[in-house]
Amino acid sequence: MSMDGDLIALVNKLQDTFNAIGGDAVDLPQIVVVGSQSSGKSSVLETIVGRDFLPRGQGIVTRRPLILQLIHTPESSSSSTGLSAGAHNSSVRRSPRIGGNLGDENHDTQGYLPDLNHTPTAGAGIMRPGGRQMDEYGNVTYAEFLHINRRFTDFEEIRKEIENETYRVAGQNKGVSKLPINLKIYGPGVLNLTLVDLPGLTKVPVGDQPTDIERQIKNLVLDYISKPNAVILAVSPANVDLANSDALKLARSVDPRGLRTLGVLTKLDLMDAGTNALDILTGRTYPLKLGFVGVVNRSQQDIMQDLPMEDARQKEEDFFKTHPVYRNIAHRCGTKYLAKTLNAVLMTHIREKLPDMKARLNTLMGQTQQELNAFGDATFLGEQHRGSLILKLMTEFSRDFVSSIEGTSLEIST
Ligand code: GDP
Ligand code: NA
Ligand code: MG
Repeated sequence: MSMDGDLIALVNKLQDTFNAIGGDAVDLPQIVVVGSQSSGKSSVLETIVGRDFLPRGQGIVTRRPLILQLIHTPESSSSSTGLSAGAHNSSVRRSPRIGGNLGDENHDTQGYLPDLNHTPTAGAGIMRPGGRQMDEYGNVTYAEFLHINRRFTDFEEIRKEIENETYRVAGQNKGVSKLPINLKIYGPGVLNLTLVDLPGLTKVPVGDQPTDIERQIKNLVLDYISKPNAVILAVSPANVDLANSDALKLARSVDPRGLRTLGVLTKLDLMDAGTNALDILTGRTYPLKLGFVGVVNRSQQDIMQDLPMEDARQKEEDFFKTHPVYRNIAHRCGTKYLAKTLNAVLMTHIREKLPDMKARLNTLMGQTQQELNAFGDATFLGEQHRGSLILKLMTEFSRDFVSSIEGTSLEIST
């Protein structure tokens, strides 16, 4: 792996450390997906990962933030898969709470729902015989949630776990929670990226949603995209006038010069006959420094018919290559190109932020050390184990981190 890949892996570790502390103590670069409900945000993330594992569909499906870390591992490690899901220690570790429910109910008291078949997500409840084992594909090895100490190797199980966790905290009836779900996906076939999937921007309350749901979701989204080093993936459906794009509106409110917003135009296959989005895709309609990438995700019918991801990718590629208008720009359209662009953007971003991250980390380490010293006898600590673990992790990471800054010339390898 290149130096840059190692660098991103390091940043992902740092992310874990700060998550464990329970906050956003360090402003780490993340790619955040923003858009109106059903614009295709979850579909875009799924195709970037190249696997079919996120709950998605019509209506409000994504109801908690999902922080998704893709971690590139060397090819050889895929042989160590041998783990069947559930074989590991199944003791449950709850993720630290950094936000409350958006609704009034205390959904935390609700248990897991055994039956998800009534979910409004059409298609999300489909179980294939035997599920889909990761090692069938070779490019993803396993996945882990922060809230469960166990490895997952079956994408259906991952989707189910996301659904269960969503229900557990955000309730059954369209409620939305700020509390994120943390998921890591490891494999030789993924790019190093941290992505955040968010509930869609919406106007009208449904189900258990409070009357000010629009404002609450907007604030939740702003929490993530207002961080100056967040990269905003602003998703707009091509079959709706771009002037009405909630994604671009909100992105512009925190990034007025369009310096860290990448436009994604979905549903190009659903545009009215005789119209096209060439002006948008070539930057003539709306100025964004990182530009717009057009994609074609799976339609609801594709999802219901269980169209494999590989076939969907091929279909997308064919769409651009054979399209009378887009075939000239086909090389910079589609999901593959989007993933490449994202990786390059992230690398530039990390390189720019390194000095600042180093300074913040040092400060935080000093504070943590002082807090531990203040307690004197470590056994007095209520969260003794956690505290010392954090310190150990931080010391380790900061050592690697500092040497990576001081000993490396940071170059983008794409
Ligand atoms: P989200 O609410 O923004 O996360 O959107 P989803 O990813 O859940 O997608 C909403 C619906 O739009 C699903 O039924 C998808 O199948 C469909 N969809 C998303 N992108 C496309 C696309 O590019 N083309 C077509 N035809 N349908 C899409
Ligand atoms: Na949706
Ligand atoms: Mg979604």
